[in-house]
Amino acid sequence: MSDNNLPIGFFDSGVGGVSVLAEAARLLPCESMIYLGDSLHNPYGTKEVAKIRMLSFQAAEFLIKLGIKALVVACNTATSAAINDLRCNLDIPVIGMEPALKPGVERCGQGDIVVMATPVTLREKKFQCLLENYRGDHHIISLPCPGLAELIEGGTYRGQAVQNYLENIFASIDMGKVSVIVLGCTHYVFIKKQIAELFPQVVIIDGNIGTVKNLQRILTKKNLLADQNEKKRTIQYYATADSERFVPLCEELFHYY
Ligand code: SIN
Repeated sequence: MSDNNLPIGFFDSGVGGVSVLAEAARLLPCESMIYLGDSLHNPYGTKEVAKIRMLSFQAAEFLIKLGIKALVVACNTATSAAINDLRCNLDIPVIGMEPALKPGVERCGQGDIVVMATPVTLREKKFQCLLENYRGDHHIISLPCPGLAELIEGGTYRGQAVQNYLENIFASIDMGKVSVIVLGCTHYVFIKKQIAELFPQVVIIDGNIGTVKNLQRILTKKNLLADQNEKKRTIQYYATADSERFVPLCEELFHYY
């Protein structure tokens, strides 16, 4: 098989990256894809950076052994912790996530911006650089959401627990002044609807389209796009633990997206 018809690999700490996979599957309908959820080590967002880096390399090696032509780090936390090292050490293109602060700033007008993400994502250099670049005169509120990815991971993304979590975490913020919420974790994309119901006046932005367009641009530039007449593409899921529960949840979320 030529490299062009190898699948694209995606990994995340769990199911969150399925939102990126689903976006990529829409934009790139001829591409085969392999998804790995590191369900054994979920969540990443409250772990030490060195540990997240080590887990990211393990996930990348697993996918590379299966044979992939590009790697998407479909996790903001793993991107913050490991993207530079992965790019330096792997021979294939590596595409990462970032909180969509630039589009957030473009759309906020005079309003405040809330960035929801894991504690690690908000603390790490990558996000601090984004803040430096785009803050200007805008009021940007970093909102760490420990435990939220786990709720979604547990499959309760449509339940009352998520509703309670959101009401609680936003209680200290003057939402009358907020015009944009940026979702800086791929898990949170699956609760966009609940957030929109709580704050109907607010624009909610995630980084998935930006990442997937970047993936398309890189595959095109490196001449790695799949043959357009290739027979039907495949999408496969793997987990590092609990695959009997994890894989059906991924399939459900892929269609829910
Ligand atoms: C987590 O594992 O804590 C969430 C991962 C992410 O940032 O997408």
